[in-house]
Amino acid sequence: MNIAVFVSGRGSNLQAILSSAELRGLCKVSVVCSDKLDCPAFQIAKQYNIPFFSVSEKVKSGSETGENKFITFHELQKKLLAQNVELIVLAGYLKLLPKEFVRFYPYKMINIHPALLPSFGGKGMYGIHVHEAVFRSSAKVSGATVHFVNENYDEGLIIDQAVVSVADAESSEEIAQRVLKLEHTLLPSVIAKIAQRKIEIKNNRVYLT
Ligand code: GRF
Repeated sequence: MNIAVFVSGRGSNLQAILSSAELRGLCKVSVVCSDKLDCPAFQIAKQYNIPFFSVSEKVKSGSETGENKFITFHELQKKLLAQNVELIVLAGYLKLLPKEFVRFYPYKMINIHPALLPSFGGKGMYGIHVHEAVFRSSAKVSGATVHFVNENYDEGLIIDQAVVSVADAESSEEIAQRVLKLEHTLLPSVIAKIAQRKIEIKNNRVYLT
C-alpha cells in the first residue's frame, strides 16, 4: 500500500512510520507533504529519497517548479493519483485541509491526535496546548488517538487509542513526552491494520480485527 504522510514540523511520527518493523513490506511512504515551505520532516524525506511537496490553497497552478515552491491541492491530488496513494496519514499536519480534498479521500485519510478524543480536541488544540489543557484538567490519564479525517478538526470516527497514566506528571512537557512515545507505536500499528484490511466500519464504529 502506498501512503502519503502530511507533516508540519519535526516529523518524529514520519520517522516512526519509516523505521517501523511492523510496516516493512506492508506499505511504502511514496510522498511527504507539508503546509510549510520547509520543515525538519523534509530532511527525513530527503534521507529516504521520498519526494516531498509544499501545498497551499493560496497559490496559482503552474508555480510548482523546483524546491521551495508551493503547489496547489489540485496539483497534489494529481501526484497522489500518479503514485497510487491509497492512504493519507496526517502526522503532525496542523492546517485544516480544503473540504473538497478531504471529500476525495473518504475513509482514506487518518490523523493522529496527542490526547484521548473526544476530549482535548478541536480548533487550537495542537502541540503543547493539548498537554497543557490535560495538565490543567488534572486528568489522571492521557494518550493518543488515531481517527479518520472529516471536514472538522478531530471529529472523524476513532480508529484506535493508546492510554498512559499521567497521575504523577509534574508538567505538560512530561505528559507530551509520554504521549509521543505512545504515538510512535500506535500510528504504525493502525497503518498496518489498514494495509492488511483488518479494519471494519459497522454501526458508526471502527473495528480492528
Ligand atoms: C504529534 O504529537 C501529533 O500527535 C500531533 O503533532 C505532533 C507531531 O509531532 N498532531 P511530529 O512532527 O510527528 O514529531
